Amino acid sequence: MKQRILTGVTTTGTPHLGNYVGAIRPAILASQNSEVDSFFFLANYHGLIKCKDPELIHQSILSVAATWLAAGLDYEKVTFYRQSDIIEVPELNWILTTCCAKGLMNRAHAYKAAVQENLDKGINDVDHGIEMGLYCYPVLMAADILAFNANLVPVGKDQIQHLEMARDIAARFNHRYQPIFNLPEVLIDEDTPLLSGLDGRKMSKSYGNTIPLFENEKKLRKIIMKIVTNSLEPGEPKATDDSSLYEIYAAFATEDERKAFENALKDGIAWGEAKQVLFQKLNDVLAPMREKYEYLIAYPNEIEEILQYGAQKARKVTAPLLQEIKSAVGIRILK
Ligand code: TRP
Repeated sequence: MKQRILTGVTTTGTPHLGNYVGAIRPAILASQNSEVDSFFFLANYHGLIKCKDPELIHQSILSVAATWLAAGLDYEKVTFYRQSDIIEVPELNWILTTCCAKGLMNRAHAYKAAVQENLDKGINDVDHGIEMGLYCYPVLMAADILAFNANLVPVGKDQIQHLEMARDIAARFNHRYQPIFNLPEVLIDEDTPLLSGLDGRKMSKSYGNTIPLFENEKKLRKIIMKIVTNSLEPGEPKATDDSSLYEIYAAFATEDERKAFENALKDGIAWGEAKQVLFQKLNDVLAPMREKYEYLIAYPNEIEEILQYGAQKARKVTAPLLQEIKSAVGIRILK
């Protein structure tokens, strides 16, 4: 059987340049390999944990789906769906909750960080303000993965612990009932660049330093001009290390273009001019995708159709597997 690769994106907000370079582009490239079966989904139930704005939860599906499709995801070749359309996922979530040690969840990084925040604030109740959604986040993620019996899960390093937990939960189920689940492995791509943002820190929504992916040309230019640089004058040679401007350029350029840009910096190109070169490069790469994106955003019913189609494909895997799982725990029809 082919390797099953599965990954999800939490849908809160609109993807930025860092998401594209760090996750979307490599995932789409990997999905073009015909040796693997790829599953991509929009984790809107996970979205509910952080985002309490119904309109944003709703809109994020549209912008994230449109981004992936515009970036070239082939929804015929891969299985592309919305988490909430796969009813087997929350069903399995519950079954897995009954196979998950509470102590395991106590050790989750996100939960521990929230507890620490309370302690730091001198709040006596360490669980103050913490909801069960945050606490049980890793179980739902395990359900996402195990409902497809996926083998490989490409994620960022921050998700490694979640994969360990998914394996733990799967192993407990297998041991207690029947060996149904593969133990999924994390797939970390060390070559994928982590893009820096406008201020030189890692590009992240929480730092407010992102460059949007599909803003119009004028706005894109304006944002590029805001990239923080050092105070070296035109004519002074500029280094490429810790220059987010160079780093972003390199993430979009061919090897020859990258070298030429490196030389131009060494030769003392003015920062303003370098920003213009970066803008031109980004715009050349992004313009065709932006056009597709704008089209899709204007026709949400087309995206809905694509997602429904994906859900049908996905449930061909999850529905029979859930029958087997439920039967293994003793939930089956009387006869
Ligand atoms: N937790 C992942 C993230 O924040 C998103 C996610 C949810 C996911 N379910 C998943 C990723 C299942 C891989 C597999 O990046």
